[in-house]
Amino acid sequence: MKSFHSIVITGASSGIGEGLALDYATTGVRLALGGRDEARLQAVAAACRARGAEVEAQTIDVADREVMATWLRAQDAAKPVDLILANAGISIEKGKGQAIDEERTRRTFEVNVEGTFNTVFPLLEAMRARRQGQIGIVASLAGFIGLPRAAAYNASKSAMRVWGESIRHQLRRDNVGVSVICPGFVESRITVGNDFPMPFLMNAERASAIIRRGLAHDRARIAFPIGTKAAIWLAATLPGNTTDWLLGRFSR
Ligand SMILES: NC(=O)c1ccc[n+]([C@@H]2O[C@H](COP(=O)([O-])OP(=O)(O)OC[C@H]3O[C@@H](n4cnc5c(N)ncnc54)[C@H](OP(=O)(O)O)[C@@H]3O)[C@@H](O)[C@H]2O)c1
Repeated sequence: MKSFHSIVITGASSGIGEGLALDYATTGVRLALGGRDEARLQAVAAACRARGAEVEAQTIDVADREVMATWLRAQDAAKPVDLILANAGISIEKGKGQAIDEERTRRTFEVNVEGTFNTVFPLLEAMRARRQGQIGIVASLAGFIGLPRAAAYNASKSAMRVWGESIRHQLRRDNVGVSVICPGFVESRITVGNDFPMPFLMNAERASAIIRRGLAHDRARIAFPIGTKAAIWLAATLPGNTTDWLLGRFSR
């Protein structure tokens, strides 16, 4: 089992990232936490310090490549990073008129895709050279088939899932692990406004515990909960026209 002592978490100011930060916070662990909302981020940082962790909290936009690289290299210099959690993400296609919108589509990819690259690449060579480290990429169960909503979000998560699964093979020879994290519905600021049923909705604490266990075992894919995972797996194995028909009926 792997254990981690210098951890970077993006999107640590709420939801799953906050849950992970609190879960990993203990004596002997250094946490580098990123987020955009200063007040919420500092509140999470304070709670982590209260649990004994050393914490560096930075208000930072993952889409800003240069700023991210500088920040991440400074964290690595302070204590070599052994776990990167590329967790920051947005879902901004909710509501009438906001689906299939060019600006929202491009911004979704800037944050969910380029933001992940901006989180992983600055530390990748150092991890390879040390032959030590774990990379957790937060994708989604929404990234397996073309669902009738949130096209850019689903596509961005699909891209990160496949990218993560692929680099895992290439990084194995450097002893760097990659886990792709595919949650179903988790209570967070992303899901709070959803106006549709969210089966098997779980809280961030539970999600964090599952993710943490998967990372410790260097699982290739950490997908949960089982009910949503099974439904997505089934939909992905059906002939394309059948899936299209079923999803069409479901969305109406
Ligand atoms: N909740 C779900 O059902 C679910 C399911 C599958 C996958 N996910 C994924 O899980 C991850 C965490 O989301 P969540 O559900 O916990 O939602 P959340 O509560 O909205 O958390 C998202 C986090 O990402 C941060 N963030 C957003 N844009 C950013 C940017 N440009 N730069 C830096 N940080 C940014 C937010 O920071 P601020 O709030 O400070 O802006 C926040 O800390 C996301 O990648 C999401 O796609 C969520």
